[in-house]
Amino acid sequence: MGILLAIENLSIAVGKKSTGEPLVKNVSLQLEEGKTYGIVGESGSGKSLTSLSILNLLADKLTITEGQIQFADKGNLLSLKKNQLQKIRGKEISMIFQEPMTALDPMYTIHYQLFEVLKFHKKLSKQQMYEQVINMLNAVGISRPEKVLKNYPHELSGGMRQRIMIAMALLCNPKLLIADEPTTALDVTIQAQILELMKKLKQQYQSTILLITHDLGVIAESCDDVAVMYAGQIVEIGSVEEIFDQPKHPYTQGLLKAVNSIGNEAQELYAIPGNVPTQDEFNEGCRFASRCPLVIESCHNNVPHLTRITQSHTVRCWAVEQEGVSYET
Ligand SMILES: Nc1ncnc2c1ncn2[C@@H]1O[C@H](COP(=O)(O)OP(=O)(O)OP(=O)(O)O)[C@@H](O)[C@H]1O
Ligand SMILES: [Mg+2]
Repeated sequence: MGILLAIENLSIAVGKKSTGEPLVKNVSLQLEEGKTYGIVGESGSGKSLTSLSILNLLADKLTITEGQIQFADKGNLLSLKKNQLQKIRGKEISMIFQEPMTALDPMYTIHYQLFEVLKFHKKLSKQQMYEQVINMLNAVGISRPEKVLKNYPHELSGGMRQRIMIAMALLCNPKLLIADEPTTALDVTIQAQILELMKKLKQQYQSTILLITHDLGVIAESCDDVAVMYAGQIVEIGSVEEIFDQPKHPYTQGLLKAVNSIGNEAQELYAIPGNVPTQDEFNEGCRFASRCPLVIESCHNNVPHLTRITQSHTVRCWAVEQEGVSYET
């Protein structure tokens, strides 16, 4: 299987001519076709900015200062014109969000909104469109699709709206589905149903998924590969097994230790000491340096190189690189 999406050295800053430290710094990752790729990190780590930049959906005051995003045979998405990108959006790359109302318009019926997507991207007869829409609503587990089509978004439950948004995203059978915290706003049982649904649909439609979440449980459940982000930088990338069983970066290790201590009565609840730096506190090196148990001089001033542990496992950490040591918790 080939690489479907390659983000290369992406940096995002505030303002048009930003000279300070960027919000997102030198992010690189590669999504293999047919796989589910997770980006995990605490709130504010730059997950959404990274994913929004793929379809040029960043807020006006943010600027991509560096990097490329290569997609399938389309070349660098960042150099495409607006109308070229519009043809890709919804057809080859779709997005679903934490809050379905970001994608659904409260003013229009579900029928209108789903048909609009097909009208824009495909030349189909009314009958063909209707069949496709009904099939897709069935596929996302909506039992009376004819009735739901007549509804406005506010007449549906949160779980139903999320299913509609997934149906809308998958209508044109996109090569890539970007899901930004798709289950965070839902209660636990619905969350599990939606994740299960995405898994099923991925197999059925052979989509590649970029799944963004702060929840390591969701990553473990759904992903093949994972990138761990901290304060706008990727600190570690690996297969799910590598990240969970052999984490190398002290931040990944701390994160796992914190999660594992929840619900473990024999153990005190663990939290990584210190706080995530704010943008004006960013140094030029590793942004985890101020909280890191392995910190050395270089960490504050220079971004660590990429150390390759295995073909699929890489880490950016001076301690791992220089000492060959791994911090065990
Ligand atoms: N429009 C904006 N202007 C200025 N700063 C922004 C803007 N949007 C996001 N940021 C900042 O960029 C950083 C990364 O934001 P981002 O939304 O990508 O985080 P995230 O990892 O998706 O977090 P969450 O888990 O809370 O969704 C945060 O510090 C945020 O405050
Ligand atoms: Mg986010």
